[in-house]
Amino acid sequence: MKVISSLEDAKSFIKDYKSERKISLIPTMGNLHIGHMKLIKSASSSSVKVVSIYVNELQFNDKNDYSNYPRTLVDDLSLCEDNNVDLVFTPKSSEVGNHISGDKNDLPKFTSYMCGSKRPGHFSGVYKIVKFLFEIIQPDMAYFGKKDFQQLLLIKYIASTYFPKLKIIDINTVRDRDNIALSSRLCRISPESFDKVKLIFETLQSMKKRLQKGIDYNIVKERTLLELINRDISVEYLDLRSLYTLNELKNINDQCGIFIACYIDHVRLIDNIEI
Ligand code: PAF
Repeated sequence: MKVISSLEDAKSFIKDYKSERKISLIPTMGNLHIGHMKLIKSASSSSVKVVSIYVNELQFNDKNDYSNYPRTLVDDLSLCEDNNVDLVFTPKSSEVGNHISGDKNDLPKFTSYMCGSKRPGHFSGVYKIVKFLFEIIQPDMAYFGKKDFQQLLLIKYIASTYFPKLKIIDINTVRDRDNIALSSRLCRISPESFDKVKLIFETLQSMKKRLQKGIDYNIVKERTLLELINRDISVEYLDLRSLYTLNELKNINDQCGIFIACYIDHVRLIDNIEI
């Protein structure tokens, strides 16, 4: 396994393989967990597997969140080694900055909803780093989790607009035995608060059931918000939305999902369920 930081070295590594084998890219911000392992394992075994590790300051609207983001490079590298990764790309922020400066940023409308409205600059930061990674690594396939569903739609937009040959492969959210969606942020939650974290997906499941029974959306949403507030969970958004446009809906159809962002122990967590 190679670990490369320089853009020129990464480009020449890719050039050596590009004509013989397909390239799979798994972009990450490190602190790798079982969810990332699933992305890495899903990548075709005949392809050159590239994992990028870069804590992208541009996508953090909150400076504390950026400085508290767990950085665990040594462990991450050994997990990559154990999972047959060929290249770990750890670009330097100075080189990333030079490369993306002046990039135009044509964010589609749906990025202004949900996380987009609550985290100014977040999707612009994601857009820039992901486009940068696609330009440098030139992957044939790139793997992303469905937990960050809005991000996934943005990445599909970037791929279809600028990298039409690139296949974006979405991978189901990995959950623990309590159905908690795995996230690097969970390590900042106190053990006593894990019962609250469990409630996130339970809430989505019970909302889904109530909506499928035909109960009015506004009533279901209001009751659910009350239940969460009573459990001391601060909800940022809880919406029924189209899986394609992310437009808010008032009635379910077969192409929609429920999306949530909330704070537990001051840690922001997101999740979603398809209907
Ligand atoms: O999902 C993430 O870990 C990040 O948003 C990504 C896609 C690696 C871009 O920094």
